[in-house]
Amino acid sequence: MSNSAVIEAAIHGNVVKQVTLSTQFSGRSRNLSSRAPDLPDFVSARVARYYRERKEGNWGGRHILHGRTPGPDALQLSSNDYLSIARHPRILQAMTRSLANEGNGTLMSGIFLHGDNPQLDFENNLARFMQAETGVLCQSGYAANVGLIQSIAGEQAPVYVDMLAHMSLWEGIRSAGAESIVFYHNEPEHLERQILRNGPGVILVDTVYSTNGSICPLRDIVEIAGRHGCVLVADESHSLGTHGPNGEGLVVELGLQDQVHFRTASLAKAFAGRAGIITCPSSFREYFKFESLPAIFSSTLLPHEVAGLAATLEVIESEGWRRDKLRANSAYLRTGLDDLGYNLNGSRSQIVSLESGTEPQTIVLRDALEERGIFGSVFCAPATPKNRAMVRLSLHTNLDMNDLDRILVACDEARAITGFEHWPSTRRRRNEVRQAAVAA
Ligand SMILES: Cc1ncc(COP(=O)(O)O)c(C=O)c1O
Repeated sequence: MSNSAVIEAAIHGNVVKQVTLSTQFSGRSRNLSSRAPDLPDFVSARVARYYRERKEGNWGGRHILHGRTPGPDALQLSSNDYLSIARHPRILQAMTRSLANEGNGTLMSGIFLHGDNPQLDFENNLARFMQAETGVLCQSGYAANVGLIQSIAGEQAPVYVDMLAHMSLWEGIRSAGAESIVFYHNEPEHLERQILRNGPGVILVDTVYSTNGSICPLRDIVEIAGRHGCVLVADESHSLGTHGPNGEGLVVELGLQDQVHFRTASLAKAFAGRAGIITCPSSFREYFKFESLPAIFSSTLLPHEVAGLAATLEVIESEGWRRDKLRANSAYLRTGLDDLGYNLNGSRSQIVSLESGTEPQTIVLRDALEERGIFGSVFCAPATPKNRAMVRLSLHTNLDMNDLDRILVACDEARAITGFEHWPSTRRRRNEVRQAAVAA
């Protein structure tokens, strides 16, 4: 069906899903076609709006996230495998050994796990590595955040949340039925003003922000939390493995492990697996497993995932050169992009984003980079505010100087093609530079 036909069909409550099943029947192959029932108007109108407003309206009929297919010499900057360990032989061996020995293990909720168990051992080891009292392994960073906030927040206290905090933290607030009070990104003074107005509550921050790579002013936030009797949750998804002397995360790097009540992290970033973790006080652990809905009502990890993560922890601890190289690569690229005049929105990490603004402008940027073999990830609403879309470049250890220079050449050439001079982010940067000059 053409795009316009899909829109027409959706508008008239007539969305058709064709599923073709191939089956063996009487020794012959035959095709079965199934047709989903029509959707009622209140659903089909939403579907139609997506196609009309976003795909046709903003993206010219193409998918904003799906550009070219990368060729063999493409530089992939869309993976969160910051330390380049997704194919590490030691990790793969641990996973294949476990798969061969245990298959998919026992399929059930993690609430039933007890006694001598590799998953509980890993949970303890990871928490110990993060210098936390204890921790609980979750199926994902998303499940960790939703389950944790749902277990500590509610109607009785507000939840203060940085305006750029990850969507899973917002979803946790929603599922807790708590009131959310936003504070400006990385502005502790604004947080404090909000607390003085609304009383103590839960504070939610990311340590490294996933859209722009900026770093949370954690020391200030910790002080404010302590001064006003608040509970602090720090999402370490983009700093666990990459920050801290051995990859323990930003909280440990800053020596704040005894002052942050809860840390959460996705293990699908530097840990290159699929899981999440929360760190917590010992008394909280059993309570959490009986209170967090994702912990109770969603099945736990598979044995080979746990075996892989256990091996990953050893790699992350012992191969510090990966962190050093990542840090050097990130600093080099940030400096180069800054020299080209890009507004990096405070990035101080391995996440570097070019904020092109509107979605059509972002497609132009994406195409300009991809034509030059540079494949980042497009971020747009709901991952960013409207008209603050961007191409995010996730840097990694395996990039060498040639690669970094190639990215810089592509970004240099992209400036003229994309009208970068007129992006709101570029104008903001020019204003900031002007104001700083006046102030000096
Ligand atoms: C800051 C942050 N928290 C949580 C998550 C969710 O992690 P996961 O992909 O493991 O569900 C992500 C991933 O996008 C993230 O960037």
